[in-house]
Amino acid sequence: MLSAIVALSKNHVIGKDNRLLWHLPDDLRRFRDLTFGHPMIMGRKTFESLPHILNERHHMVLTRDTKYVVEDKQVTIFSSIGELLANLECDKEYFVIGGGEIYTLLLPLCETLYITKINQDFEGDTRFPELDFAQWYTVESIEVLSNVGNELPHHFMTLKRLH
Ligand SMILES: NC(=O)c1ccc[n+]([C@@H]2O[C@H](COP(=O)([O-])OP(=O)(O)OC[C@H]3O[C@@H](n4cnc5c(N)ncnc54)[C@H](OP(=O)(O)O)[C@@H]3O)[C@@H](O)[C@H]2O)c1
Repeated sequence: MLSAIVALSKNHVIGKDNRLLWHLPDDLRRFRDLTFGHPMIMGRKTFESLPHILNERHHMVLTRDTKYVVEDKQVTIFSSIGELLANLECDKEYFVIGGGEIYTLLLPLCETLYITKINQDFEGDTRFPELDFAQWYTVESIEVLSNVGNELPHHFMTLKRLH
Protein backbone atom coordinates (compact mmCIF):
# COMPACT_ATOMS: atom_id res chain seq x y z
CA MET A 1 0.00 0.00 0.00
CA LEU A 2 1.27 3.48 -0.84
CA SER A 3 0.69 6.49 1.38
CA ALA A 4 1.98 10.01 0.74
CA ILE A 5 3.09 12.43 3.40
CA VAL A 6 3.62 16.12 2.70
CA ALA A 7 3.75 19.54 4.30
CA LEU A 8 2.39 22.21 2.00
CA SER A 9 1.42 25.85 2.04
CA LYS A 10 -2.03 27.22 1.18
CA ASN A 11 -0.82 27.69 -2.42
CA HIS A 12 0.60 24.12 -2.58
CA VAL A 13 4.27 25.15 -2.36
CA ILE A 14 6.48 22.48 -0.76
CA GLY A 15 10.02 23.76 -1.16
CA LYS A 16 12.56 26.13 -2.63
CA ASP A 17 16.22 25.63 -3.67
CA ASN A 18 15.96 21.98 -2.56
CA ARG A 19 14.98 22.78 1.00
CA LEU A 20 11.87 23.27 3.08
CA LEU A 21 10.57 26.80 3.61
CA TRP A 22 9.49 26.53 7.23
CA HIS A 23 10.56 25.04 10.53
CA LEU A 24 7.73 23.23 12.28
CA PRO A 25 9.04 20.81 14.92
CA ASP A 26 5.59 19.33 15.54
CA ASP A 27 5.33 18.48 11.83
CA LEU A 28 8.76 16.81 11.91
CA ARG A 29 7.59 14.81 14.92
CA ARG A 30 4.43 13.74 13.11
CA PHE A 31 6.53 12.77 10.08
CA ARG A 32 8.76 10.63 12.28
CA ASP A 33 5.85 9.00 14.12
CA LEU A 34 4.02 8.10 10.92
CA THR A 35 6.98 6.90 8.85
CA PHE A 36 8.95 5.16 11.62
CA GLY A 37 9.58 1.52 10.70
CA HIS A 38 8.20 1.92 7.17
CA PRO A 39 10.04 2.12 3.87
CA MET A 40 10.08 5.61 2.32
CA ILE A 41 10.08 6.40 -1.41
CA MET A 42 11.71 9.61 -2.58
CA GLY A 43 13.35 11.40 -5.48
CA ARG A 44 17.11 11.86 -5.58
CA LYS A 45 16.78 15.58 -4.82
CA THR A 46 14.72 15.00 -1.69
CA PHE A 47 17.17 12.30 -0.60
CA GLU A 48 20.03 14.77 -0.95
CA SER A 49 18.07 17.39 1.01
CA LEU A 50 17.78 15.16 4.09
CA PRO A 51 20.13 16.10 6.91
CA HIS A 52 21.13 12.42 7.25
CA ILE A 53 19.78 8.92 6.67
CA LEU A 54 16.74 8.53 8.90
CA ASN A 55 16.91 5.65 11.33
CA GLU A 56 14.59 2.63 11.25
CA ARG A 57 13.36 3.53 7.75
CA HIS A 58 14.48 2.08 4.45
CA HIS A 59 15.15 4.78 1.84
CA MET A 60 14.05 3.89 -1.70
CA VAL A 61 15.57 6.55 -3.95
CA LEU A 62 14.62 7.22 -7.57
CA THR A 63 17.23 8.53 -9.97
CA ARG A 64 17.85 8.12 -13.70
CA ASP A 65 21.58 8.30 -13.03
CA THR A 66 22.69 4.68 -13.35
CA LYS A 67 26.02 5.52 -11.71
CA TYR A 68 24.40 6.89 -8.56
CA VAL A 69 25.62 4.89 -5.57
CA VAL A 70 24.97 5.24 -1.84
CA GLU A 71 27.02 2.95 0.36
CA ASP A 72 24.44 2.32 3.07
CA LYS A 73 22.34 -0.75 3.84
CA GLN A 74 19.35 1.50 4.49
CA VAL A 75 19.32 2.89 0.95
CA THR A 76 18.26 1.25 -2.31
CA ILE A 77 18.46 3.03 -5.66
CA PHE A 78 15.86 2.57 -8.40
CA SER A 79 16.20 3.88 -11.94
CA SER A 80 12.55 3.79 -12.94
CA ILE A 81 9.08 3.73 -11.45
CA GLY A 82 8.55 0.30 -13.03
CA GLU A 83 11.59 -1.11 -11.26
CA LEU A 84 10.47 0.42 -7.97
CA LEU A 85 6.89 -0.88 -8.21
CA ALA A 86 8.13 -4.38 -9.08
CA ASN A 87 9.96 -4.44 -5.74
CA LEU A 88 7.05 -3.45 -3.49
CA GLU A 89 5.53 -6.05 -1.15
CA CYS A 90 1.73 -6.18 -0.74
CA ASP A 91 1.68 -6.35 3.06
CA LYS A 92 3.78 -3.23 3.69
CA GLU A 93 2.89 0.44 3.93
CA TYR A 94 5.28 2.55 1.85
CA PHE A 95 5.47 6.30 2.41
CA VAL A 96 5.98 8.52 -0.61
CA ILE A 97 7.86 11.45 0.95
CA GLY A 98 8.50 13.64 -2.10
CA GLY A 99 9.47 15.77 -3.69
CA GLY A 100 7.31 17.41 -6.32
CA GLU A 101 8.27 15.11 -9.20
CA ILE A 102 7.76 11.95 -7.20
CA TYR A 103 4.42 13.07 -5.70
CA THR A 104 3.21 13.79 -9.24
CA LEU A 105 4.27 10.33 -10.42
CA LEU A 106 2.97 8.31 -7.47
CA LEU A 107 -0.01 10.22 -6.09
CA PRO A 108 -2.39 8.36 -8.44
CA LEU A 109 -1.34 5.11 -6.72
CA CYS A 110 -1.63 6.38 -3.14
CA GLU A 111 -4.50 5.29 -0.90
CA THR A 112 -3.82 7.60 2.03
CA LEU A 113 -2.54 11.15 2.21
CA TYR A 114 -1.07 12.67 5.35
CA ILE A 115 -1.01 16.42 4.87
CA THR A 116 0.29 19.19 7.04
CA LYS A 117 -1.36 22.27 5.60
CA ILE A 118 0.22 25.56 6.59
CA ASN A 119 -2.42 28.28 6.60
CA GLN A 120 -0.52 30.80 4.52
CA ASP A 121 0.96 31.25 1.05
CA PHE A 122 4.69 30.80 0.38
CA GLU A 123 6.86 31.56 -2.62
CA GLY A 124 8.84 28.56 -3.80
CA ASP A 125 9.93 26.54 -6.81
CA THR A 126 8.33 23.17 -6.04
CA ARG A 127 4.65 22.40 -5.67
CA PHE A 128 2.43 19.53 -4.68
CA PRO A 129 0.13 18.43 -7.54
CA GLU A 130 -3.46 19.70 -7.57
CA LEU A 131 -5.78 17.36 -5.69
CA ASP A 132 -9.05 16.22 -7.17
CA PHE A 133 -11.16 16.40 -4.02
CA ALA A 134 -13.85 14.28 -5.66
CA GLN A 135 -11.43 11.37 -5.24
CA TRP A 136 -10.67 11.85 -1.55
CA TYR A 137 -12.49 12.09 1.74
CA THR A 138 -11.18 13.60 4.95
CA VAL A 139 -10.72 11.17 7.82
CA GLU A 140 -9.17 13.67 10.21
CA SER A 141 -8.42 17.38 10.33
CA ILE A 142 -6.79 18.82 13.43
CA GLU A 143 -6.21 22.54 13.73
CA VAL A 144 -2.93 23.49 15.38
CA LEU A 145 -2.67 27.09 16.50
CA SER A 146 0.61 28.96 16.67
CA ASN A 147 2.55 27.77 19.71
CA VAL A 148 6.04 28.03 21.17
CA GLY A 149 8.48 26.72 18.54
CA ASN A 150 5.71 26.32 15.95
CA GLU A 151 4.89 29.84 14.88
CA LEU A 152 2.83 28.96 11.81
CA PRO A 153 -0.78 27.85 12.34
CA HIS A 154 -1.45 24.63 10.42
CA HIS A 155 -3.76 21.65 10.07
CA PHE A 156 -2.84 17.99 10.31
CA MET A 157 -5.08 16.19 7.84
CA THR A 158 -5.57 12.57 6.83
CA LEU A 159 -7.30 11.87 3.54
CA LYS A 160 -8.33 8.49 2.11
CA ARG A 161 -9.03 7.70 -1.50
CA LEU A 162 -12.65 7.04 -2.38
CA HIS A 163 -13.14 3.85 -4.35
N1 LIG B 1 7.18 19.95 2.08
C1 LIG B 1 7.38 18.64 1.97
O1 LIG B 1 6.67 17.83 2.57
C2 LIG B 1 8.49 18.15 1.09
C3 LIG B 1 8.77 16.78 1.02
C4 LIG B 1 9.80 16.36 0.18
C5 LIG B 1 10.52 17.29 -0.55
N2 LIG B 1 10.21 18.60 -0.46
C6 LIG B 1 10.93 19.60 -1.25
O2 LIG B 1 10.75 19.28 -2.63
C7 LIG B 1 11.89 19.74 -3.35
C8 LIG B 1 12.45 18.59 -4.16
O3 LIG B 1 11.46 18.15 -5.08
P1 LIG B 1 11.80 18.00 -6.65
O4 LIG B 1 10.51 17.81 -7.39
O5 LIG B 1 12.70 19.11 -7.06
O6 LIG B 1 12.70 16.68 -6.69
P2 LIG B 1 12.41 15.17 -6.22
O7 LIG B 1 11.04 14.77 -6.63
O8 LIG B 1 12.81 15.00 -4.80
O9 LIG B 1 13.51 14.40 -7.07
C9 LIG B 1 13.52 14.53 -8.48
C10 LIG B 1 14.51 13.52 -9.02
O10 LIG B 1 13.96 12.20 -8.95
C11 LIG B 1 14.46 11.43 -10.02
N3 LIG B 1 13.33 10.98 -10.84
C12 LIG B 1 12.20 11.65 -11.15
N4 LIG B 1 11.39 10.89 -11.92
C13 LIG B 1 12.04 9.72 -12.10
C14 LIG B 1 11.72 8.52 -12.80
N5 LIG B 1 10.57 8.39 -13.48
N6 LIG B 1 12.62 7.51 -12.78
C15 LIG B 1 13.78 7.62 -12.09
N7 LIG B 1 14.13 8.73 -11.40
C16 LIG B 1 13.27 9.76 -11.42
C17 LIG B 1 15.39 12.34 -10.84
O11 LIG B 1 16.69 12.19 -10.28
P3 LIG B 1 18.03 12.41 -11.16
O12 LIG B 1 18.06 13.87 -11.49
O13 LIG B 1 19.13 11.98 -10.25
O14 LIG B 1 17.88 11.51 -12.37
C18 LIG B 1 14.84 13.72 -10.51
O15 LIG B 1 15.76 14.78 -10.69
C19 LIG B 1 12.85 20.28 -2.31
O16 LIG B 1 12.68 21.69 -2.18
C20 LIG B 1 12.40 19.61 -1.03
O17 LIG B 1 12.75 20.34 0.13
C21 LIG B 1 9.21 19.05 0.35
